[in-house]
Amino acid sequence: MPAIAARKGSTEPFLIDAPPVNAPGAGDVLCRTLELGVCGTDREVLETAAPLLPDGEDHLILGHECLARVEQIGNDIEGFQVGDLVVPTVRRALRPSDVRIDMLDEDQYTERGIVRQHGFSAPQWLERPEYLFRVDDTLRAVAVLAEPLAVALKGIHEALAIQQARLSPYVWTEASPRVLVTGMGPIGFAALAVCRSLGWPVDLYGRDADDSFRARLVANFGGRYLPAARDDLSRDHARRQGYDLILECTGSDEVMVRSARALAARGVAVWLGSSRRPRPERHDLAQLMRQAVLRNHVFIGSVNAAPRDFSAALAHLARLEESHADQLQLLITARVAPEDSLWHYEHRAPQGIKTVLVYD
Ligand code: BGC
Repeated sequence: MPAIAARKGSTEPFLIDAPPVNAPGAGDVLCRTLELGVCGTDREVLETAAPLLPDGEDHLILGHECLARVEQIGNDIEGFQVGDLVVPTVRRALRPSDVRIDMLDEDQYTERGIVRQHGFSAPQWLERPEYLFRVDDTLRAVAVLAEPLAVALKGIHEALAIQQARLSPYVWTEASPRVLVTGMGPIGFAALAVCRSLGWPVDLYGRDADDSFRARLVANFGGRYLPAARDDLSRDHARRQGYDLILECTGSDEVMVRSARALAARGVAVWLGSSRRPRPERHDLAQLMRQAVLRNHVFIGSVNAAPRDFSAALAHLARLEESHADQLQLLITARVAPEDSLWHYEHRAPQGIKTVLVYD
């Protein structure tokens, strides 16, 4: 079974023979990948033609959204058994720190499959137990979505913590926030799914036509679809009340500035996407600032996910399996063997959401 790798000087993904893995030493768990999600970050790593390589290597093995099975455990491992389903987290601290792992600065961590550490597209890999979450067998079909759900949940948890600190400890519990999600990619849909699991009303803003598969999926999740062609998120939204929480998942500065106009008084916007491509300055940022000052806005940049977010993601997946099982399955728009996956690392299919590589 091959692994998928990125190399310096090339924007193309490569199939490589997976490196042999040693038997687990003390404190290690040997895992076998069952399913692997492809995401925008994988495509971005490739687009740079300059992946951040592990020391002494000429390639980076991709893959950071993973469902795996425990195959062997080293000595001194408690809480895991051979056969357990697990989801690994992504980030590893380089040095012990009092700062929560997802809040570390860029030079203080590696990320499996993204930053200087090989990822999970290799069929087998070793991991420390503190970076693995056990997954109930009932979540076998959807647990590969845990990582993107955790990323969306981090944004929500951060926003909630700030609003509770500055407004009231009961904010968003007594009355649901009005939520706007921008973007129809995997993080946009993860944000939608989680908000619906919380019972919050959600509008999702995107570029698709009303009758597209993805627009219909928004409605199937119980959200309302706002097509960009008919709705420019003008200040009317704010006048009518506006959104208490905006989850920006397009990574487009243009959509971010436009959607900020619809932020309610005391609202909070979380930026979950970003673009590495330089863009010309062309927005009315003065207006963004003026509104932010007059209306006490908060903007949060959010990356990665804390252990609490992974636990919450698994709990929400279990709830969504009860309430929205069909819709969760529809988020996985392609299932391919690793050998046939390369196209998906360079393209997103029209109406595609999440491609999953199936290993068994
Ligand atoms: C991953 C995060 C990671 C980020 C930046 C995202 O795709 O989900 O865990 O921190 O990329 O590398």
